[in-house]
Amino acid sequence: MAVPRNVSALLARHFAHHARPMHPRVFSRGLATAKAPSSLFAPLDTFGDRHIGPDDREVGYMLSKLGYDSMDAFVSDTVPEKIRSATNAVSNETIPALSESELLRRAKELGQANKSVKSYIGMGYHNAVVPPVILRNITESPAWYTPYTPYQPEIAQGRLESLVNFQTMVMSLTSMDIANASLLDEATAAAEGMVMAFTGTHGKKHTFFVDSGVAPQTVAVLRTRAKGFGIKLVIGDALKDLSDNALRSDLCGVLVQYPDVNGAVKDFSGLADSVHSTGGLLVCATDLLALTMLKPPGEWGADIVLGNSARFGVPAGYGGPHAAFFAVTEKLKRKMPGRLIGRSRDAQGKPAYRLALQTREQHIRREKATSNICTSQALLANMAAMYAVYHGPLNLQRIAQKVHGLTHTIKSSVESFGYKAINSQFFDTLTLDVSGAAQDAEAVHAAALAAGINLRRIDDKHVGLTLDESVGAEDVVALINAFASAASKSSISLSDLTPPETLAIPDSLRRTSQFLPHPVFNTHHSETEMLRYIYHLQNKDLGLVHSMIPLGSCTMKLNSTSSMIPLTWPEFGSIHPFAPKDQVKGYLELISELESDLCKITGFAACSLQPNSGAAGEYAGLSVIKAYHESRGQGHRNICLIPVSAHGTNPASAVMAGLKVVPVKTHADGNLDLEDLRSKAEKHKDNLAAFMITYPSTFGVFEHGVQDACKIIHDNGGQVYLDGANLNAQVGLTNPAICGGDVCHMNLHKTFAIPHGGGGPGVGPICVAEHLAPFLPSHPLIETGGDKAIEAVAAAPFGSASILTISWAYIKMLGGTGLSDASKVALLNANYMAHRLAGHYTLRYKNGKGRVAHELLIDLAEFDKAAGLKVMDFAKRLQDYGFHPPTCSWPISTCMLIEPTESETLEEIDRFCDAMIQIRKEAEDIITGKQPKDNNLLKNAPHPLSVITLSEEEWNRPYSRQTAAYPMPWLLERKFWPTVSRIDDAYGDTHLICDCPSVEETAEH
Ligand SMILES: Cc1ncc(COP(=O)(O)O)c(C=O)c1O
Repeated sequence: MAVPRNVSALLARHFAHHARPMHPRVFSRGLATAKAPSSLFAPLDTFGDRHIGPDDREVGYMLSKLGYDSMDAFVSDTVPEKIRSATNAVSNETIPALSESELLRRAKELGQANKSVKSYIGMGYHNAVVPPVILRNITESPAWYTPYTPYQPEIAQGRLESLVNFQTMVMSLTSMDIANASLLDEATAAAEGMVMAFTGTHGKKHTFFVDSGVAPQTVAVLRTRAKGFGIKLVIGDALKDLSDNALRSDLCGVLVQYPDVNGAVKDFSGLADSVHSTGGLLVCATDLLALTMLKPPGEWGADIVLGNSARFGVPAGYGGPHAAFFAVTEKLKRKMPGRLIGRSRDAQGKPAYRLALQTREQHIRREKATSNICTSQALLANMAAMYAVYHGPLNLQRIAQKVHGLTHTIKSSVESFGYKAINSQFFDTLTLDVSGAAQDAEAVHAAALAAGINLRRIDDKHVGLTLDESVGAEDVVALINAFASAASKSSISLSDLTPPETLAIPDSLRRTSQFLPHPVFNTHHSETEMLRYIYHLQNKDLGLVHSMIPLGSCTMKLNSTSSMIPLTWPEFGSIHPFAPKDQVKGYLELISELESDLCKITGFAACSLQPNSGAAGEYAGLSVIKAYHESRGQGHRNICLIPVSAHGTNPASAVMAGLKVVPVKTHADGNLDLEDLRSKAEKHKDNLAAFMITYPSTFGVFEHGVQDACKIIHDNGGQVYLDGANLNAQVGLTNPAICGGDVCHMNLHKTFAIPHGGGGPGVGPICVAEHLAPFLPSHPLIETGGDKAIEAVAAAPFGSASILTISWAYIKMLGGTGLSDASKVALLNANYMAHRLAGHYTLRYKNGKGRVAHELLIDLAEFDKAAGLKVMDFAKRLQDYGFHPPTCSWPISTCMLIEPTESETLEEIDRFCDAMIQIRKEAEDIITGKQPKDNNLLKNAPHPLSVITLSEEEWNRPYSRQTAAYPMPWLLERKFWPTVSRIDDAYGDTHLICDCPSVEETAEH
């Protein structure tokens, strides 16, 4: 193919196919001639020009390097013709593009359509007060929200330290031995606790008892999860109904809530002994703020303690995101789900943090993994941890005492009107019997609403209220007066109120033990110190603010500022997830627009935004498939075929949904072995439930046979689940429905630009074909899902609703045409990278036309053979060049999976390729013996400043400090320093320490 000489002509041809002329790109870098806008009235702040890294000239250059004269010709060679969608399926006609300022105006309009009503609904959701220093410098800071999960600990010590603060905070407040670095929400954390109790009995005991004081959304999620494992849920009064012998002999665990959803603070210490005598586990859902005043569950015998840390400075956001916590006793630590951060040491023997017990990850254990949790809630855990760091134990207790005191004050006042609190022992929540004062509960709700207040709806006779840190004196007066009005009593004023003299917590349940004595929670209480601590940590971490993060399968693209702005507006942040639908019209409109756009993009009929991670989406989608089979009298179908190359969460999710995993082979070139698929589908045709496929595959392959594979499954009675983690390669070019899928999940935190937050939050919505729409998940409190819905898969009706604003904004600003352009450029960037690295590294797969998809797999096995150089040696050396390494050793142990995304410019891609090529030369010196095999630039990488500044005596390396730290000239301008040298994984796992240093250790250090 001729290489075009005239780039402008090439660009004209490239963009000629757009239905609407491409909006004028902004050529602020002066690389091309700016075009005049098509109309004087057209906006200039169009988003596509900012989001897509390469400008027109760079696109033309890359195409020419690959031998194409148009983008269309390139795409034709890359995406199989038979799965291409109609060009107008995702275009500006179907999804019109808004400029950045238009988008912000529209977001404001939607935000203002949400009614500002102060919620006292409680049930695990509060009006959090985010300290401004945390809001501005963590929540709204790309240095904190753009990094990836800390798989490369040498360039992630800042957030690892902060996550250890989170773990320590949870361990100390709950008095448990060990805590993880967050789970998705309280309800799914409770489900993880239930499954731990069940698997602890090796599946021999099937009854899990749930106290009636557990929140209804938690119970709904438990019901869904229990089904897949064959666990029998029994709901009742844990203090009364556990004496039955038959029940006790089959008991694997009990869940209680402390304080419970109605506010009662009960003594469960006797229950702990009773449950332990059956061999079962006592699981406790609790509240961190309450534990500053209440005897912690670890002191009265709980085995697993979990909950939601949102009231530590994370807004309700119509349901999330926030970080659930999960803590266990010493003997359960190796079975704990989720990520755990531990202390280890680096090559210099210095202390350093890292992800501990990584062997438990689903990639290794697959269908044997105890949980499918992958992305969790790192950013929100960091917010909560920083809240505790900022306030310290004294202030936390002061906040708790105020919340408790005001609740007590309200109780006394409203009881004087004739209302009756059903609990005498409480922390922040009252359940009031209204029958002695008002006509009915509705009359109280009406009076409250007239005063701009939401109370919890319970039944005709009872209402509930929960206080939080945001409640001040005026709020208390307004609240009491709403009750007065419903009881036809005269209103009161502040001077009528007297603070209570006692606590409504019995002596036996009061906390007497110290908490958070660690220096980090007792140092940074002035804003100056706090700001410096935040910056001290963030400076250790590499994020998208520094350089590209080319992690294959993770799609680390731009998280644009304009799409992030609405997130922290109170119009979206302050909404309770169980607020009546007529108060959340803005949210509902945004949700419906997002669902509709995602359906257009996937080609499916209906969508659920409830799942709050990719893995949660997999579980939800497979549960929907199961429910569909059951509805047709085919409930016995339980086989799930999964290619061996699939992401580890796939088999783990299948097992959780009650399916049996049968692996399907792939060929050496990455393609699915269709014959193996056919023979397994036919063999299991009577029981075939589903086939899970990732498209393009995890090898970076657009498989030609995808439709044939799906047909094989359908012909044998199964349904096809398409893992949409790689949807970034498809948008506007093909879609999961055309490929032959029945359901897919999307990772909004990949394809649709929600930042990864250093390990979460995520959103994993599912889209389904029409026949599966009736089964989409419901919610016990807010209507969602189809008419034959499975029960809830997350605590909130729309999952992590507040961050849906980000994906909504991303889609609206790019518009259909821009979305499709983004996918094309993502393909082009990956192929250009493959072209540049060819000849230096072995490309593991390319199609018949020499093309890869949106990512490329390079195989480093030859270096191991020749010089003992492993994938990790290349990865660590890349850190010295200022880059986050690509995905390592997955899906093939000897490979790196590289994904540049559309957001990276040609300059950045070239910089990365130059670094890779230079490292190749360094490896060559080791292979040829110019450098020793055990003491070289790769084996010793990364090189932090503490190593570069070693004394002459200590610097025993056969290369210069200059070569170690500044191997490329541009590093002199923009060096990012890893803060520790290579971390010893094995040491960390054998010496598991997961909390921050104590006073004594700090002093010793
Ligand atoms: C192919 C694939 N499937 C599923 C997942 C799981 O998504 P999440 O981490 O959001 O649970 C990932 C995450 O990296 C992935 O790459």
